[in-house]
Amino acid sequence: MANESASHRPCIVAVAGGKGGVGKTVLTGAIGLTLSKIGIKTILVDADLGGPNLHQVLGLTLPSSTLCDYFNNRVPHLNRLVERTIFPNLSLIFGSPHAIGLANIKFYLKNRLIRQLRYLKSDYIILDIGAGSAYNELDLFIQADLGIVVITPEPLAIQNGYHFIRHCLMRRMVRQFHDKPEIQEIIRANIDRGDTSIETTLTSISMKAREIANDDVHDDLETAIKCFQPHIIINMMEMKKDYYEGMAAIIAANDILGLQIEHLYHVHRDDWLRRSVNKGQLHEIFSKKDGAAYEIWKIVNQLFFDRELITPTFESAGTLANMATFQIEENEVICSVRCEKWEECAMRRGGIHVESKFI
Ligand SMILES: Nc1ncnc2c1ncn2[C@@H]1O[C@H](COP(=O)(O)OP(=O)(O)OP(=O)(O)O)[C@@H](O)[C@H]1O
Ligand SMILES: [Mg+2]
Repeated sequence: MANESASHRPCIVAVAGGKGGVGKTVLTGAIGLTLSKIGIKTILVDADLGGPNLHQVLGLTLPSSTLCDYFNNRVPHLNRLVERTIFPNLSLIFGSPHAIGLANIKFYLKNRLIRQLRYLKSDYIILDIGAGSAYNELDLFIQADLGIVVITPEPLAIQNGYHFIRHCLMRRMVRQFHDKPEIQEIIRANIDRGDTSIETTLTSISMKAREIANDDVHDDLETAIKCFQPHIIINMMEMKKDYYEGMAAIIAANDILGLQIEHLYHVHRDDWLRRSVNKGQLHEIFSKKDGAAYEIWKIVNQLFFDRELITPTFESAGTLANMATFQIEENEVICSVRCEKWEECAMRRGGIHVESKFI
């Protein structure tokens, strides 16, 4: 997986989540540290334009230039901002906690950022995108090669995560039809109505497409929707039921938005991890072989190498047996519009009781 030729382009990964405080920064930092530890060149980008603090969890001090200087045209090219860290193979493009006025960055600037990131010499580039579903967050997320949405088992986090995914989808559709205002209008109207399933949007677009004599529009859009497959991490899990909350959110997104999201990962709430973060010593995960550190290691293996296999360091710790594996049994029904009890369920609850009914 190492960068073998100069023409090799890095894989751009975006970590977002809609809600604040769900662990986006910690997971971005931990995934970056883990990749770099196994010899993979990684650049982290603190793209949380509202409150960047990735450097803090890594225990690094701010340099003189940050992403803010790039957006304000004080630094012409991103490669000037790539700072090596004390961790081999890991670099960081810092965000500026002192910057104001980065709330509404023009689309072409975000576009340029992603374009220039693709030319940096690295295997992976991981963006920590801040909380919220404003255009800044959506535009960075939808342009990445791989998107990770972080949620926690709390209703608000699940709801925000779901809406983030929905907004990304709508934004992608709007961007796809940047030269067809009449179709953009239909998509925007559906966004404003809020509760409309993707099927309604597609049907309206299809009708409009027929009017303007372009039958491919509907198919193109359906393909684009199916290609949008963010990976979900449910962080700060405490019990098995929490995993069901994540499952329910994914099923809802697939049912209502027509997506085909398949990947759900989990990280338990781990006080040890929180203490390391508070000390600015996230790298302590290297000394841990269980808990959240182990789960993050597992996620890196599954996500980037498509393998369940754990490296000998962790395997020898013998923690695998202690890890809960979350398989949904055949007779377990998760809340969703596919649930057989959905219609008569006053609380829209059925099967396993999950809170995600509010989606
Ligand atoms: N698995 C976990 N176990 C225990 N604590 C965690 C875990 N993940 C994150 N935390 C703690 O949760 C808090 C918030 O984490 P973090 O700053 O990464 O969230 P965030 O989503 O980036 O927040 P923001 O939206 O403000 O940028 C931190 O104190 C962190 O240590
Ligand atoms: Mg953060």
